[in-house]
Amino acid sequence: MTEVARGLEGINVTATKLCRIDGQKGELIYSGYDIFDLAEKSTFEEVAFLLWNQRLPNKAEMLELNTKLLSERGLDPIVERLLSELWAVVRPMRTLEIAVEVLGAIDKDSSDLTTPTLRKTAARLTAKMATVIAAYHRMRTGQEFVAPRDDLGHSANFLWMLTGKEPNALEARTFDVAMILHAEHEMNASTFSAIVTASTLSDMYSAIASAIGTLKGPLHGGANEAVYKTVEAIGTEQNIAPHVEALLGRGERVMGIGHRVYKTTDPRAIILEKLGHAVADQSPDRKYFDLSLKLRDYLARKLEGKPLYPNVDFFSASVYKMLGIPSDLYTPIFALSRITGWTAHLLEQYADNRLVRPNALYEGAANREYLPLDKR
Ligand code: COA
Repeated sequence: MTEVARGLEGINVTATKLCRIDGQKGELIYSGYDIFDLAEKSTFEEVAFLLWNQRLPNKAEMLELNTKLLSERGLDPIVERLLSELWAVVRPMRTLEIAVEVLGAIDKDSSDLTTPTLRKTAARLTAKMATVIAAYHRMRTGQEFVAPRDDLGHSANFLWMLTGKEPNALEARTFDVAMILHAEHEMNASTFSAIVTASTLSDMYSAIASAIGTLKGPLHGGANEAVYKTVEAIGTEQNIAPHVEALLGRGERVMGIGHRVYKTTDPRAIILEKLGHAVADQSPDRKYFDLSLKLRDYLARKLEGKPLYPNVDFFSASVYKMLGIPSDLYTPIFALSRITGWTAHLLEQYADNRLVRPNALYEGAANREYLPLDKR
């Protein structure tokens, strides 16, 4: 083969039953269920079950998963010690990556790659990663750890542990929907890196640490924080046009706009905008959301005719801000949700594994004569 598939664009690296995207129509489907339906009717826990089992749970199965998630919410002493060393010097995404490896090191079942154990590990990581990020944030802000609450769902409990304040029903639902929207997105850089690691039969913890390291990059999970910085830099409605003109004049991109797959508005952005309006109506902190709406309208006029529309990151930034979440936790929160999709893909991979081992086209020198060191 003499061609190089740069960035593996257009290559199917695996088959999956988890997710289908139609970028022309703006459709996102998890195991047969439309994202609009899931965002309206489901919960994050139910979506996690769906991804791990490719069907919705019945009541007993939901109770069993919820019980498992609750049992894993605690902060392990070794992770607590680790965080106390890391918080001052390590940024949140790397902290999460390290913590996941440590959780693997203390799990005696980490090398059991059978489906029932892997499902337990997936639930364990889902619960524990949320606790890690909340505890990290409390430590770095000099606040006491807030113990998890058994009477709150996964998303509401995370906001509780992070802020020490119980979210109201709308805040809890909004964050839960944001978690549903980020849970899965077919093949992408971080999912692929998880699969590559798993394909060597390395364990689920190391595969997830690989995925977190990959998500960290600004071309992938970092865009939501970048949107926040853009809106922060714009600051006022009057500054939208000069800021965007200057940005595009320098050949830069507006963050939160455009997508490799979606050539219409990302359905997740439609759902987040709708929720954003509801949250803004009761929020004293709606300035960035209002500015995002004006920016979206300005860009629609400016980029008319180009297939550039808001993606999931465009509104998640200002919605998270209204929920009181600091901007450097936006990408970690992406990971707290995507852990369900990553682990679901890993369940598929371990169940039908083949080592990922592509080729590279050699373009280097040929037929060289080896000279000893003292002759070079
Ligand atoms: N702002 C301004 N122009 C953009 C743009 C953006 N965010 N995204 C793409 N374009 C322009 C490109 O400059 C290019 O213009 P040209 O044809 O005149 O050269 C055209 O649209 C196509 O760009 P291309 O890089 O081929 O599109 P892509 O499908 O490879 O890019 C992204 C996808 C996501 C990488 C890109 O849209 C982007 O960088 N967006 C901002 C980052 C972001 O929000 N990422 C999160 C994705 S969920």
